[in-house]
Amino acid sequence: MIDENRPDGMPAEQVLAEIRELRALDRPTHGGRLFAYVYDPAVPGLDALAAAAYAESAHVNGLDPTAFPSLLAMENTLVAAAARLLGGGPGTTAADVVGSVTSGGTESLILAVKTARDARPDIAAPRIVVPTSAHAAFAKAAHYLRVELDTVPVDPGTLRPAVADVAAALRPETVLVACSAPSYAHGVVDPVEQIAEVAAAAGVRCHVDACFGGWTLPYLRRLGLPVPPFDLSVPGVTSISVDLHKYAYAPKGVSVLLHRDPHLRAPQYFAYADWPGYTMINPVISSTRSGGPIAAAYATVRHLGDDGYLELTRSTWAAVCTLAEAVRGADGLRLVAEPESTVVCFTATETGPDLFMLVDELAARGWHTQPQLSYAGLPPSVHLTVTAAVAPRAAEFGPDLADAVAAARAAGPVGLPPQLRALAGTLAPEELTGDLVAGLAAGLGLGPGGGLPERMAPVNTLLDAAPPALRERLLVEFVSLLQRPTW
Ligand SMILES: Cc1ncc(COP(=O)(O)O)c(C=O)c1O
Repeated sequence: MIDENRPDGMPAEQVLAEIRELRALDRPTHGGRLFAYVYDPAVPGLDALAAAAYAESAHVNGLDPTAFPSLLAMENTLVAAAARLLGGGPGTTAADVVGSVTSGGTESLILAVKTARDARPDIAAPRIVVPTSAHAAFAKAAHYLRVELDTVPVDPGTLRPAVADVAAALRPETVLVACSAPSYAHGVVDPVEQIAEVAAAAGVRCHVDACFGGWTLPYLRRLGLPVPPFDLSVPGVTSISVDLHKYAYAPKGVSVLLHRDPHLRAPQYFAYADWPGYTMINPVISSTRSGGPIAAAYATVRHLGDDGYLELTRSTWAAVCTLAEAVRGADGLRLVAEPESTVVCFTATETGPDLFMLVDELAARGWHTQPQLSYAGLPPSVHLTVTAAVAPRAAEFGPDLADAVAAARAAGPVGLPPQLRALAGTLAPEELTGDLVAGLAAGLGLGPGGGLPERMAPVNTLLDAAPPALRERLLVEFVSLLQRPTW
């Protein structure tokens, strides 16, 4: 029984009304005031086009490209578009580039790691080298694939790794070196050319994670920004990923993983014929997969076109500059890095406001930013992913930021009870008991069944006082309290 109160099922309109009511609880996906999670170009009609394309192919199954050549054709077109943008394709040094459409950045990175691992079956305990600024999806890949993760610190000033440190981290068991173009947290581009050179000299693959910025950096360069070489035009780069559900502005569920040539891609495939059913041959993690997201991405990319993306990047960059200027002009804030892509990241000066209170004050004024906790000598910061939809609103940010800074200063930082702060600093994750978590959650206003406090500063302050391993444990416990069935 789906719902004991409605054994007869619900009329379509009523179900949709129910969904709309639930959606009203969400942060606004449109309107240019949400600086994480969503990528909105604010192009009239684009949502409707993507939804129509999605509906056309929602029931098509990517499991078998011979049964559904429509999907194969769309995937091949998307791979070619990504390759052309990222230094590959006919007439380039990466003329033989091949690729796959995956469900997102994490899947692209897991597959890049899996492919590198499986290319070296002679290595019993494979390892990968990534800067600490690399996306957490590399750690997830390492965890899922039982590959050791060797991290290289980033310079607190440049937020980039030193190439000598990357070279020093390479071992005979290293199967992959990765870097970001740009990093998610700070929006800076790693020294890809030098890292790829070091990797190539050691005979190791090099993956560039351009999941976030791969669809904007080429256009930023065309607009005159000094974007360093980061793509397949760089010798030694063996693979690169770009998410279409980020700055290609496609609905969620689409990323592209490119390899310099088919030989490098070969270990990505999984094939299995040793059972009585159909032979399974998958280049990606899912077997059955909907054609919906792929068709929606295809429609989006075809509709916006090169000129469309150039113009969207132009307005995004204008918004980045306006927001960065607002931060420079705010009392007690400073940019963590000068913007070089579509991220604005700032922190507080020594005499500045409490950042977690500031995030709540901004949210109270309708600006949804992303707090980032302090980490390895880097201070806590506020992250803004800027998309084209922000451009028309960007000028409104400065006055609200000034106002929010004043309010955060007046309120002062969250006063965590000293015992709690001490506990956060010293408790070993394995010492966390169910009772302790329930008590903490209740004290912080996190209720079972989806209750979230209006102000997140107490939660963020507590997490910030804890080392990463305890943060992980606390958040797993808190989130699992929320993820309970609705009876
Ligand atoms: C640089 C980078 N890599 C990988 C990812 C993971 O992408 P996804 O959330 O689509 O799995 C992200 C997401 O923000 C990212 O910014």
